[in-house]
Amino acid sequence: MMIREPLVDSYGRVHRDLRISVTDRCSLRCTYCMPEDGVPWLPRATMLTTEEVVRLADVAVSMGIEEIRLTGGEPLLRRDLVDVVAGLSALDPAPEVSMTTNGIGLDKNAAALREAGLTRVNVSLDTLRRDVFISLAKRDRLADTLAGIHAAAEAGLVPVKINTVLMRGVNDADEDVVALLTFALEHGYELRFIEQMPLDAQHGWDRSQMISGAEILAKLRTGYDLTAQPDESRGSAPAELFDVRPWGAGPEVEPLGMVGAIASVTMPFCGSCDRVRLTADGMIRNCLFATGETDLRTPLRDGASDDELAELIRASIGAKLPGHGINEPTFLQPPRPMSRIGG
Ligand code: 5AD
Ligand code: SF4
Repeated sequence: MMIREPLVDSYGRVHRDLRISVTDRCSLRCTYCMPEDGVPWLPRATMLTTEEVVRLADVAVSMGIEEIRLTGGEPLLRRDLVDVVAGLSALDPAPEVSMTTNGIGLDKNAAALREAGLTRVNVSLDTLRRDVFISLAKRDRLADTLAGIHAAAEAGLVPVKINTVLMRGVNDADEDVVALLTFALEHGYELRFIEQMPLDAQHGWDRSQMISGAEILAKLRTGYDLTAQPDESRGSAPAELFDVRPWGAGPEVEPLGMVGAIASVTMPFCGSCDRVRLTADGMIRNCLFATGETDLRTPLRDGASDDELAELIRASIGAKLPGHGINEPTFLQPPRPMSRIGG
């Protein structure tokens, strides 16, 4: 087992969480991510092979990465995803391997992924209404997503977390937001609402259209009683967590479950960020909103040593800025859309 110095940036943040995008392709076209016609996909030859992904992850693990999250695009569209999971799970020291997915096709793969070492999943689900799903994701796949969520729970990929982005006038009706929470509570899924960030390929993000964390909570409180959990339970996790009780119940009543709000824009948590990202084409990004990236694919294919790759990753983290700067007048949206970065 190779151990290197930990990945600490110039603000003292220790990086333990690696997000690996395994494909930029997707089966949906969520409006906060891509236009209905999609975006040009990355050329096949630039995509890292499974061996290359595992090699880079091995170097990252030697620098203290403890958790690896597979993202996309939609990771389930990668044909050899089970091999990727197995390769990552076999690293030493073994990272915890999880995945963010839209759930489509997960019903066919959940057991095999679990078997290969996947521990849990976050599934994106923005609505329980078929017509709203179609207007938001441009595809008639709500039933597939729901089947994927249930299959994940059945396969033991738990706790199943559900990510929801609210879009004004599309899926933000109070009763629909409350219905999502009821659904999650009934099945024991952990629901988290995420503020929409400026990461769509169309550059259509507009602050005044964004549903803020405060608004999300107000909507949930039309149906349930929410009590904030103490802040210290949060750590580097971005979600502010709330105990959920029936509307009007006192604190003596056992909570029905919890719900999270991830207010990345209005309440940035950059100060405790421990994440670094590897894109499907082999670029290290030290922030979702970084305007620059570090090419690992070229040196990797030119025969760089593990030490050389490690130094490139370290240099990228060394140059990490203190925050995303979305709230600064000089903010520029990164040229890479979410589907090519990975959540
Ligand atoms: N803002 C916030 N969240 C987003 N996601 C995708 N695009 C955005 C955006 N612009 C979420 C998806 C998914 C995860 C990968 O990131 O809903 O859960
Ligand atoms: Fe696909 Fe995820 Fe983008 Fe939706 S947010 S289009 S599911 S990559």
